[in-house]
Amino acid sequence: MNIERTAVIGSGLMGAGIAEVLAKSGLDVIVREINDEASAAGRARIEKSLAKAVEKGKLESEARDAALGRLRFTTDIADLADRQLVIEAASENEEIKKSIFKELDEVVTDPEAILASNTSSMPIVRFAQSTSRPERVLGVHFFNPAPVQPLVEIVSSVLTADSVRETVTDFVAEVLGKSPIQANDRPGFIVNALLIPYLCSAIRMLESGFATKEDIDAGMVGGCAHPMGPIKLTDLVGLDTCLYAAQSMFDETGDPATKPPVLLSRMVDAGRLGVKSGGGFYDY
Ligand code: 3HC
Repeated sequence: MNIERTAVIGSGLMGAGIAEVLAKSGLDVIVREINDEASAAGRARIEKSLAKAVEKGKLESEARDAALGRLRFTTDIADLADRQLVIEAASENEEIKKSIFKELDEVVTDPEAILASNTSSMPIVRFAQSTSRPERVLGVHFFNPAPVQPLVEIVSSVLTADSVRETVTDFVAEVLGKSPIQANDRPGFIVNALLIPYLCSAIRMLESGFATKEDIDAGMVGGCAHPMGPIKLTDLVGLDTCLYAAQSMFDETGDPATKPPVLLSRMVDAGRLGVKSGGGFYDY
């Protein structure tokens, strides 16, 4: 299967990054948003990142213009009828995601089309079961910032066809130029199963007054060569996303390491969502 016509649902932090990756790879991309305001914000996010790529010498300005020319925004999901690959990157709410998969199943006409979710930790099989084609549903999990991070987790549910997993793995490696790894449909897959307990643990360390955020971050940057410390990384990922990921992992496993720290919940209640809202643990 030669994937050329793609779509992304949502143009928040991850959706915009994924749409940019697809467009830069020469694919036709439709981005579906809920209203014109959200579409304008998503387009601005992509334009800003492409401008940074040009500024950093990673992209020619002609390639930027070509990528922008391959992107279309819509608020009507029916416009996705002819898509061969759709990647859902809506907010981490299971009911919203399930209803999106149900709608996609109704509008996408090609029986060979692949429906994917970028969820950070939710069970893929539940999205698959919202469709009449569960064998063509899988997780394709990018990392933030998607245009920069090379990894993509390919998450097969118990119902995903081997041929679908293979097609998407080859597509991610050969067309997108990313590094795929195979994960099972288990809470947190591979990366977040390790990352979320680490981030929660750092927030608990801060919450208990054990150390300052600056020292926690400096510890992991200077001591373990991480590009950023865990408190700053939580700000980058988004406190709401971290909270939903931790909560869904905790609900399913009961593992105390994934129990969301109270401080994280309170920060989300306060609208301190991280870099994307202008402030989280740090101000931006
Ligand atoms: N497009 C293309 N390339 C870009 C870019 C863009 N928009 N922005 C930056 N880059 C490139 C730069 O050119 C540079 O490349 P180089 O190393 O070859 O010079 C590189 O990316 C780093 O960029 P900067 O120098 O501008 O920025 P920093 O050095 O401050 O790095 C960072 C920023 C990439 C965010 C780095 O701090 C980092 O990797 N942090 C960790 C991020 C991380 O762990 N992400 C995973 C989060 S978990 C997740 O997403 C899963 C979810 O489910 C929770």
